Amino acid sequence: MAKYKIAWLPGDGVGNDVMDAAKIVLDKFALDAEYTHGDIGWEFWKTEADPLPPRTIDLLNNSDCALFGAITSLPKEECENQLVPELKGKGHVYASPIVRLRQEFNLRTNLRPCRAYDGNPLNYKDGIDIVVFRENTEDLYSGVEFHPVPDEVREVLKKHNKKMGRFDSTAADDMAMSLRINTRKACTNIITDAFELAKKQGRKSVTVVEKPNVIRETSGLMVRTAREVAKKYPSIELWETNIDAMCMWLIKNPMDYSVLVTSNMFGDIVSDLCAQLVGGLGFAASGNIGDKLAVFEPTHGSAPKYAGQFKVNPMAMLLSVKMMLDWLDETDKAGTLDNAIASVIKEGKVKTYDMGGSNTSLEVAEAVAAKL
Ligand code: IPM
Ligand code: MG
Repeated sequence: MAKYKIAWLPGDGVGNDVMDAAKIVLDKFALDAEYTHGDIGWEFWKTEADPLPPRTIDLLNNSDCALFGAITSLPKEECENQLVPELKGKGHVYASPIVRLRQEFNLRTNLRPCRAYDGNPLNYKDGIDIVVFRENTEDLYSGVEFHPVPDEVREVLKKHNKKMGRFDSTAADDMAMSLRINTRKACTNIITDAFELAKKQGRKSVTVVEKPNVIRETSGLMVRTAREVAKKYPSIELWETNIDAMCMWLIKNPMDYSVLVTSNMFGDIVSDLCAQLVGGLGFAASGNIGDKLAVFEPTHGSAPKYAGQFKVNPMAMLLSVKMMLDWLDETDKAGTLDNAIASVIKEGKVKTYDMGGSNTSLEVAEAVAAKL
């Protein structure tokens, strides 16, 4: 039996392209792993009204971790239109399978390292090295939403908050509500993970990125929890920055920041900003990490127009493979892969179109594999 069971989830669009690139590198390592394909994505929404079918959940329950390509997510109305005729009008509601995976398997930590590799022509500034910790299961992604807002919800809220009175004259259908729900437990976990990484890697600061001056309760809970957790790490400074100002400071002085920790929605946004500082989504890797399972994926989407063209930069995927190897405690292999990636970037000979080259995703993966 192989040492590791890895679920192989290409998903949609260029997900397949970058997964093929990942396989080139993993095969070169001859990692003692069994890879099992899992169905996930748009095709299964259209034909089964379920982009994350139960058989894939079973597969993940029996895997050590998963590598995931990309997913197509569309707004509500367009989803219904694309169902096969026999499934239309039956009340099926599309939910992003990656968001579901994060919640159903409690993959509570979204880890997004953003490092500017030397020689990357797309770096905003050389030397940037930021790690974003994004809470991955709650917040505005909790899925508690209303439109129209039912009377009983309005009544309950009105009882607890006078400010609801302001909306008395607004019809239920003229109002939508998405609740931001954050728990102390999730705040504590994500902040602790951020400090632990800072400690392990000798980083001097952790910045909690929120907006407690306005969003007093949910952002407030994050910041208050950060102050508590920080007491256990006296050698690491806790900085508190509002999300809006953070976006500005990251453009102005990106070198000042090291570890960022934030809630789900702000983390989604600020991690794209950080990705752009180090070359864009072609370099943005991520790990969705829980206690029993972890799912590694490039942060980019499925880019349907490029699907099957092997055009997109596979580095984000290869960096996700690196994160997976780290998580499996294959730290030597992870380090070797990181060095190989760094040296292909530095040499600048084999590169995809975004970096000004014309190589395919697979050629880039082969260049990396050749250095292992
Ligand atoms: C990400 C993506 C997802 C998210 C989408 C595809 C649901 O933007 O992983 O950052 O919002 O979390
Ligand atoms: Mg995102």
